[in-house]
Amino acid sequence: MMPRSLAGQSEAELGGGHSVLVLQRRDHRALDALLARIDGSSGDERAGALTDLCRLVFPHAFAEEAVLWPVLRRVLPDGHELTLRVEQEHQEINELFTVLETLEVDGTEHHRLFTRIEQLLRADVRDEEDELLPKLQTVMEPQALRRLGWAWQVVRSTAPTRPHPVVARRLPGNALAALPLAPIDRSRDRLDRAARRVPGRWAAGCRTASRALATAAGAIEHLPPLRRGEHPSTRA
Ligand SMILES: [Fe+2]
Ligand SMILES: [Fe+2]
Repeated sequence: MMPRSLAGQSEAELGGGHSVLVLQRRDHRALDALLARIDGSSGDERAGALTDLCRLVFPHAFAEEAVLWPVLRRVLPDGHELTLRVEQEHQEINELFTVLETLEVDGTEHHRLFTRIEQLLRADVRDEEDELLPKLQTVMEPQALRRLGWAWQVVRSTAPTRPHPVVARRLPGNALAALPLAPIDRSRDRLDRAARRVPGRWAAGCRTASRALATAAGAIEHLPPLRRGEHPSTRA
């Protein structure tokens, strides 16, 4: 079977609703909608849409790195080179997002940097939908694609939701990193959401707590075991 982009295929061709290929494409379309929402908004609405984007993009990519790319490296002759390219894209997105988080949401710098991130996200989707995943489709039975979809979903639903450029993009470092970082990230998401909803003094408290957790996460990221398995080209 010749590899064909996922974009033009039916769900049945991709292995059914639970296939990893369908699940990937579904998230990529949700990403598209979120990017449009961010482009058309400002202030708290833009900040909220950005949190939603992180909650979509980072667990999605984490589960690719932990579950999908190791399989691709095993089953495709050029799997190593293909997955390294997307890991480098993911790494750059992680690095730029940590800078983005320090900028004023409506400032020109924020808009300029976000445009770059948006380009990288779109390039990552094209690499996956047009090349990596179609190649995976040529060597895997639909049933195996559904099993992989299940494993990817499980990891995705418990993964970190924030950029972590310092930890490894590969096993075992990334899996170890998820244990402390995922609950910290998810608590920060709740605090940041609350800060946008509750009145002044409470909002300030939520922001302070979120910043304290960010500092803790920053210290944890540098623990040597969490950097194990890293390819030298994706080291922050
Ligand atoms: Fe993806
Ligand atoms: Fe990706």
